[in-house]
Amino acid sequence: MFELKPVAAAGKKELYAELAEQAVHLLAGERDLIANTANFAALLYHSLPEINWLGLYFYKGGELVVGPFQGKPACVRIAIGKGVCGMAAERRDAVVVQDVHEFPGHIACDSASNSEIVIPLIQGGELVGVLDVDSPVRGRFDEEDRHGLEKLAAILLAQTDF
Ligand code: SME
Repeated sequence: MFELKPVAAAGKKELYAELAEQAVHLLAGERDLIANTANFAALLYHSLPEINWLGLYFYKGGELVVGPFQGKPACVRIAIGKGVCGMAAERRDAVVVQDVHEFPGHIACDSASNSEIVIPLIQGGELVGVLDVDSPVRGRFDEEDRHGLEKLAAILLAQTDF
């Protein structure tokens, strides 16, 4: 049984290193999409500080459709190119937004969100979805978060059948 341990990391780098180790163990022995993405979202949501929404959108039928997440109910479908999620999916590159109120086209799902990071999920060269993380704190996400979350997304992609 996996036990969610409080992460006693000194800084972001250490936090992400510890989370990467936990994610490998959490997902080990299971490749089911819903099972792994649900557990992955729960692990990250409960371990990362100052987060109000964290979850996955799956790329289905040419658009993004909400998948397992933690936080308030969210918008179900997002067109490619729309909002922060759609932009990250279109560019196939992470998008970091320091202040969502200054981002033209931001899709507000939870009014508590003030900053956001979206990591595209690419498996076998194909877009399969995005990882979206929202924070009530302006400027919450930086390059360390980007690298840490990209590493975590790579673990999810390697251990899950999308
Ligand atoms: N804010 C996102 C939409 C998804 S919610 O934050 C969960 C966006 O602009 O793409």
